[in-house]
Amino acid sequence: MFTEQELAHVEELKSRYPEKQAAIMGVLHIMQDKYGYIDEERATYVAELLELPPEHVLGVISFYEMYHDHPTGKYKLQVCTNVSCMLRNSDMVIATIKERLGIAMGEQTEDGLFSLHEAECLGSCGTAPMMSVNKDYHENLTPESINAAIDSIYAMEKSNNGNS
Ligand code: FES
Repeated sequence: MFTEQELAHVEELKSRYPEKQAAIMGVLHIMQDKYGYIDEERATYVAELLELPPEHVLGVISFYEMYHDHPTGKYKLQVCTNVSCMLRNSDMVIATIKERLGIAMGEQTEDGLFSLHEAECLGSCGTAPMMSVNKDYHENLTPESINAAIDSIYAMEKSNNGNS
């Protein structure tokens, strides 16, 4: 499930902690970056690598919103709904995305491009409301900037497909 190189990365993560189990977050990141989500089989593999019960790994995946146990869109729109963002209208962000893409929270678009998720504070409270799109942050969001971000992804996908 992991390449030699990924396994070496896992070993390096494990070596950073007195207890190898503490590397769980980093190992889950490697798994999710590779496959996009972590189902039971992948969670069991991580559990074996770290000598943890699979239930423990599954519990971590379900506790943290950044991990997904089912397929997500190619672009994960994670909207922060914590206090600063909530006070600065994260409801508008969610409503704008729902209306634009025709999906509800936790769903993905039919073309598999976008999925919508709620996130806890992403550490960008001073520029609320915000969302992350995969690893990119979009801040001080307005309906216009949200639609512009989605437009630019569609344009990029279109040009990538045109070049393939
Ligand atoms: S509350 Fe939204 S980034 Fe911190």
